Amino acid sequence: MTTHLQSPQGPGAGRSERTTVLPPGGGQTAFYAKSNMVPLPVIDRGSGIYLWDEDDRRYIDVSSGPVVSSIGHGNARVADAMASQAKRLEYAFARLARNRVNIDYSERLARLAGPGFERVNLTSGGSEAVENAIKFLRQYAIATGKPSKRQIITCEPSYHGATIATLAMNGEVALAPFLDGFATTSHKVPAPLSYRVPDDHSIGSYARHCAAALDAKIAELGAENVLAFVIEPVGGLSTGCVVPPAEYIHAIREICTSRGVHLVFDEILCGMGRTGKFLAAHHWPEALPDIVTMAKGLASGYSPLGAMLAPADMVDELSELTGFEFQYSYNANPVSSAVGMAVLDEYEGLDLVARAVERGTQLRSGLEALQSSLPILGDIRGLGMLLAVELVADKKTKVSLPSDLLPADRIRIHGLRNGLMIYSRPTSGGKYGHWFIVSPPLTISEEECEDLLRRLGKTLSDLVAELRDMGTL
Ligand SMILES: Cc1ncc(COP(=O)(O)O)c(C=O)c1O
Repeated sequence: MTTHLQSPQGPGAGRSERTTVLPPGGGQTAFYAKSNMVPLPVIDRGSGIYLWDEDDRRYIDVSSGPVVSSIGHGNARVADAMASQAKRLEYAFARLARNRVNIDYSERLARLAGPGFERVNLTSGGSEAVENAIKFLRQYAIATGKPSKRQIITCEPSYHGATIATLAMNGEVALAPFLDGFATTSHKVPAPLSYRVPDDHSIGSYARHCAAALDAKIAELGAENVLAFVIEPVGGLSTGCVVPPAEYIHAIREICTSRGVHLVFDEILCGMGRTGKFLAAHHWPEALPDIVTMAKGLASGYSPLGAMLAPADMVDELSELTGFEFQYSYNANPVSSAVGMAVLDEYEGLDLVARAVERGTQLRSGLEALQSSLPILGDIRGLGMLLAVELVADKKTKVSLPSDLLPADRIRIHGLRNGLMIYSRPTSGGKYGHWFIVSPPLTISEEECEDLLRRLGKTLSDLVAELRDMGTL
């Protein structure tokens, strides 16, 4: 909604045309690129898998926002838990006091994560959790006599957050001018992609190549200088839900162990049951990482919440030595902890991890049916109810749709017209393809899945028709 106001007086007055059409503040979207052609509906309310805008148009939340809203919208039990915690105790600073709900929530999370993840450090979101993992490992290295360990290795492509330190870890070539001379970037190794593998490779041989590249990178940097390898064990917004072969996970675990490098699984997006296990790491129990980070589904959008999970022996050792001396004002916030508890109640009561498998299977077979009838669905991939659909110009050659046509934006526009809110994204300006994510709330019913698939079929047919009109297909 734009409001026509007079230009504000003061130092910034007249700097831009937009100051005359946006109200003061402008909302978060005032900061986004002006050229964004996709409408951003003003959402008024939500219930279950649905969101309604101010004009009462209803949308299915196809991707749970950016894979956040795992228990769906408008859950009164969670809202009540939040309100009653806020009335009882809204805040107690973790450096000065402990609070019961934080203690209980940490214990419950650690039990679900299982052996190796006994200590829980809460944050206000995913980027903070990844930063805490890195800060924790760096402080542990210094405290245990390994101060040269400061290099971080991540994948190209990858996404780990939007703070300056995590931006510098992301495998996103488009960020180079922003980061150049501004932040210390991580070292990159190729991500084990499954669809766009180089011509002379199979998925398996490429995964072996990627693991060997990690080993070579550690050798090049000197293992004594490498702090950690950070990876999304199942991809999200950067790779479009790439699932590496098990042998890759086993190989990177072995490499990190033998080289004395910490392995961090960034499960901000793929954790919390999305892939059909509580942690994605539980798919490979014999190759568990040293540290796991989580967020998104933890509070399912009801409150800002993230977590860094670490083994008791490391945390307790550091605690004896120097302690992990960094905190935010909102660590261990009682209201967020109460939300986390109430979300876990929903997970257990509704058996949402099992439903991720059940409904995920239904959605995947529906998407595969669409793939066989539509010319632009190049790849369907993912695990559980974390699925991505890659759009291509030609299924046989895998040639991408032209980036300047903004295919990821077009699918969103057609989706909105068909009552779907879809998260879509190209990484690195389309270098790794264009895709959208199908990851609705885990609470979605069988009938709602059918409705979602029907609307998606229409959305994709509309996109195909548009591309044909434009002469692209
Ligand atoms: C894998 C991964 N790591 C980290 C983040 C950053 O989380 P947040 O946006 O909560 O800071 C994200 C967000 O999309 C993510 O997908």
